[in-house]
Amino acid sequence: MSLGPLLERVPQALRGSSAYHVPQPPQIRAKLDANELPYAWPIELRMALGAALAEVPLERYPDPRAKVVRDLVAAQHGISGEQLVFGNGSDELIAMLCAAFAGPILYPVPTFVYYKLASIARGIPAIEVPLDRNFELDEAAFERAITEHRPSIVFLALPNNPTGTLWRMDFALELAARHRDTVIVSDEAYVAYSDQTALPHLAEHPNLVIMRTLSKVGMAGLRVGFTISAPAICDVLEKVRPPYNLSSLDQAAAAFALREAAPWSLARAAEVVAARPKLAADLAALPSTEVFASAANLVLVRFGAGRAAKIWQGLADRGVVVRNFDHPGAPGHPAGGPLAGCLRITVGTAAENALLLAELATLTKTE
Ligand SMILES: Cc1ncc(COP(=O)(O)O)c(C=O)c1O
Repeated sequence: MSLGPLLERVPQALRGSSAYHVPQPPQIRAKLDANELPYAWPIELRMALGAALAEVPLERYPDPRAKVVRDLVAAQHGISGEQLVFGNGSDELIAMLCAAFAGPILYPVPTFVYYKLASIARGIPAIEVPLDRNFELDEAAFERAITEHRPSIVFLALPNNPTGTLWRMDFALELAARHRDTVIVSDEAYVAYSDQTALPHLAEHPNLVIMRTLSKVGMAGLRVGFTISAPAICDVLEKVRPPYNLSSLDQAAAAFALREAAPWSLARAAEVVAARPKLAADLAALPSTEVFASAANLVLVRFGAGRAAKIWQGLADRGVVVRNFDHPGAPGHPAGGPLAGCLRITVGTAAENALLLAELATLTKTE
């Protein structure tokens, strides 16, 4: 059914954009499409989590300050609780940053698509600076774009999704020093896989925001992320944060996870890091593929335009789900753009990686 006269009420930018859509084949044997940690929590941890959640008073609103989680995160990162803002995943933090510092945003492309979606939702301009053919950042061109457009916010995913590339971390700090009237966001969603962070330099940069999430280390279902910054930035973000954005269950589960599950998830993330080079090498050994170096829990592979989409479908038919960037409908990633011909593959368990490679071997043999 059409919107009828309501269509006039929808901003032009939204009319032309598409919603974030995740295709789900009926039967999934290996889910390698969303950069999640591939391991389920051990049963003992899940039982203890269940007991902790049973204590949550659901008849009450959540603690709007999320004090328990705040104190734990602050202690674990050696910062003060005043430097933290919590979001329903970092997606919500990105939207909050766009609302709070409402002005043009600037980021390299291709990158995490939600920067663009958040700017469209807020009706603010997005300035996109192309990466080079190997998805490296042209620092001089990037700096020129900032000087020319004077954005309110610069988003740098360090490492980048969907390419896995890790640009020079110090560049974010240099930008923060040179552009004091711009919020520089170091989006460290994949820090567990790159071991690189701008955190030790936070005190030197009042305009630097470090963004983290629990999603990539075994808690994507929770939807908990946080920013670390100078308290003055937190004060602005707090003005646009929905007061109860973290439910009581989110808070209790996040607190439990930070207290009890952190060693488990760090050890599992280390397994993924150890498995990444072999997966990348095995993918590179397939006929006519180009594999990009990754510092995240993903590997971007170029199979070629048209070919990648066919391979994606073949994998999906066999229950192996990876992310397809080789089709016109990918939000934020236009047909024929730099990701044409590419599939993004999350590093899975040893069994999932083996299954993926076996199916890819069959599919590429029968092309
Ligand atoms: C670079 C980057 N930032 C942020 C996010 C969003 O994470 P969350 O699950 O916390 O919303 C993702 C998710 O894929 C990501 O790749």
